[in-house]
Amino acid sequence: MSADSQKTFYLETFGCQMNVHDSEKVIGTLVHEGYRQVQTVEEAGLVLYNTCSIRDKAEQKVFNRLNDYKKYQKQGKKFGVLGCVAQQEGEKIFERAPYVSMVCGSASYKNLPQMLVQIEKAQIEAGKPLRVTGLDDRETEDCFETEFTARTNPHRGYITIIEGCDKFCSYCVVPFTRGKERSRTSESVLAEARQMADLGYTEIQLLGQNVNSYKDPAGKPGGKKTFAELLAAVGELPGIRRVRFTTSHPRDFGRDIIDAIDAVPTLCDHVHLPVQSGSDRVLNAMQRLYTREQYLERIAWMKAAKREISITSDIIVGFPGETEEDFAETLSLLDEVGYDAVFAFKYSPRPNTPSLALDDAIPDDEKVHRLEVLNVRQRQIQTASYKKYIGTISEVMVEGRNEARAQWIGRTSQNKTLNFTAPESAAPKLGTYVPVRATVSFPNSLLGEMVV
Ligand code: 5AD
Ligand code: SF4
Repeated sequence: MSADSQKTFYLETFGCQMNVHDSEKVIGTLVHEGYRQVQTVEEAGLVLYNTCSIRDKAEQKVFNRLNDYKKYQKQGKKFGVLGCVAQQEGEKIFERAPYVSMVCGSASYKNLPQMLVQIEKAQIEAGKPLRVTGLDDRETEDCFETEFTARTNPHRGYITIIEGCDKFCSYCVVPFTRGKERSRTSESVLAEARQMADLGYTEIQLLGQNVNSYKDPAGKPGGKKTFAELLAAVGELPGIRRVRFTTSHPRDFGRDIIDAIDAVPTLCDHVHLPVQSGSDRVLNAMQRLYTREQYLERIAWMKAAKREISITSDIIVGFPGETEEDFAETLSLLDEVGYDAVFAFKYSPRPNTPSLALDDAIPDDEKVHRLEVLNVRQRQIQTASYKKYIGTISEVMVEGRNEARAQWIGRTSQNKTLNFTAPESAAPKLGTYVPVRATVSFPNSLLGEMVV
């Protein structure tokens, strides 16, 4: 392998926004060390996977990919597994994929440069790849921030405000893979947001597994901010036009967040509030710490807001012991809330989680059936609700261009896709905000024309 390709890396990211943003941190760190990112495995000296283990299928994808790429080991390429599967499986990964040199969890990315040097040295001295691990006991107080972040989109960017999760929902692997909750100081979040605004970013997405349990750890006396205050402060920064946040947990979701959305126009009129189930019995078994009624109380706050807030959710079907009646309650909740989008998943048993010990497993074909029924119902709801936007004008951020359809890709503050046409003479620039009148509705998006 040429010296040049030794310092090249290929990175593939699986999973959630948190992983996407972690990958930006990995890229930033490696580029600072003199590495160059390449777009194919063939060109790369170092092949990295930033992995997800939220459901079994996601985890299998990673091992399939590792298997597919086994052939490259002979070319002297090095392989690294990062992220949630790395943290969860640890050194067991070396058994399943012996040509992997590095296994590194998300709290250790800032140590990547040293780990890579270690691998290189061992290769030169012993002539064979060393196996290094960057794992932690998940009780770490370690800050997850890296010094460098390579953001790929020049207009909207993520900022992590809290890492980890202390909720321990009975099905969820996250508290085991990402460890306990650690918040960043509001000062450092605001400093990063200001820096981004100076660079021309206009949209900021605050990230955390559970942003509502954000606790400002330090700050000046009297300067500690609640999550809602932090949200408002980011929204009030000069140059920032849109602020989003994800993910929220209903138990910690305070009314002050809606007050902030009411008070600060840059805070987007969209809340993602995962409910997981409409049945109190299942919510209890999931250890979600709220009832259907308490969840609906939060929905009522949103519906009473000054702007129409779009509401989206995550749902798990086929949790152990979920009866037909329980499932019917989830369907009725869909009707009652009228979500703008729902991400529904079949329950997948995960290592270490309490629900692994529950009997009453639902057969897979029943889970598939429930998922299908739920998705059909939700599609009907959205087909009806998206229609009401026809004729209305919304401001969209221009996110891209679909040449094949001769359309611009736009996103509303409500996080809806509103694609549009515009006269060639008035072609909008990417990352700008333009008014668009919706003319056609679909179950998941809108189509319209730019108002000139
Ligand atoms: N099985 C299925 N879905 C899950 N999720 C989390 N853990 C599991 C699991 N074990 C879903 C939840 C969560 C979303 C990110 O993934 O709905 O909100
Ligand atoms: Fe998982 Fe529950 Fe934490 Fe969300 S709140 S990351 S579902 S344990």
